[in-house]
Amino acid sequence: MTKTLVKVGLDERSYPIRISSGLLEKIGIDLHERNIGTKYGVISDDRVAALHGSRFMQSLTDAGIRAELLTFPAGEASKHLQTVTALSSELAQRGFDRKDALIALGGGVTGDITGFLASIYLRGIPFVQVPTTLLSQVDSSVGGKTGVDIPEGKNLVGTFYQPKAVYIDIDVLNTLPADELRGGIAEVIKYGVINDAEFFAFLEQQREAVFALQQDVLTKLIARCCEIKAWVVEQDEREGGLRRILNFGHTIGHAVEAASGFQLIHGYAVAIGMCAAAELAVCSGCLTTESAERIRRLIAAYGLPTAIPANINREEIKKYLLTDKKTVGGRVFYVLPERIGAVKITDQVREEDVDTVLAA
Ligand code: GLY
Repeated sequence: MTKTLVKVGLDERSYPIRISSGLLEKIGIDLHERNIGTKYGVISDDRVAALHGSRFMQSLTDAGIRAELLTFPAGEASKHLQTVTALSSELAQRGFDRKDALIALGGGVTGDITGFLASIYLRGIPFVQVPTTLLSQVDSSVGGKTGVDIPEGKNLVGTFYQPKAVYIDIDVLNTLPADELRGGIAEVIKYGVINDAEFFAFLEQQREAVFALQQDVLTKLIARCCEIKAWVVEQDEREGGLRRILNFGHTIGHAVEAASGFQLIHGYAVAIGMCAAAELAVCSGCLTTESAERIRRLIAAYGLPTAIPANINREEIKKYLLTDKKTVGGRVFYVLPERIGAVKITDQVREEDVDTVLAA
């Protein structure tokens, strides 16, 4: 079994990210050694609970861990304050106190809800992340962003609250729907473009092994993304500057996602957003056409979309660009590649170039 350890160094809030096959059944032993909580509330959606819940709960019991499963309906529609309120009441009724802890077993929605709940229940109790989608394994489970959606926008209410540990079992990807796997790959490609040309080339070479879920390749891929994310978060935990590079592909991507009425899978919107940002970088004179084409080719090779669907209204996209939470004082910030492996953050982008890219 390949075992990998990545560390997020944030002084007294530092934590390990463990990555391996077959990890789900071993988490209990580690929790036992680390003594994070007296009792654990395992938060999961009903879909993930049906897939992994009983096996996971049994492994905790076998390791001598006291744990109770709390579920909510699967889907982004559950990511709101009412779910947090309902789960808080359930924890209180079941007698969870300050010595107890939470476990997020699931994808990004579960991780964001559980992290937020952990940060406010009894003014904060510890939690750990057990991400079960590729997207949450390479991005949302690491770095401490938590939150919920409100009618005015996604993730508008939340906290920065770091987990005590992240446990990534690559075997859970075997049951992940193909479009969710591809959606996660979009975030993986993001790391290559923003920080690591060698990793980008690795992704170009390993497409078949990735789709075949080859364990050594998946472990290396997830570990490299976590290393880059950890490196960014260690320097800029609260997104004052550097962390914004993680938004590569998300500026136009989020606007396209919103303009699609959230019909487009998040990772697909990010893929489109990365192609648009590369195109914008070419228009702005900071990236060569060859590099932009290489980015587009890799995204397409993983079966991801590269162009904004024709039926999405361009004016709507522009409206969402201006109301995005990353927009400050009407200034839209873009993360533009300068070459594969390096990006810059800028609000100095000509409107006509944005129009050209959106029209393409
Ligand atoms: N997903 C971007 C971040 O964690 O900053």
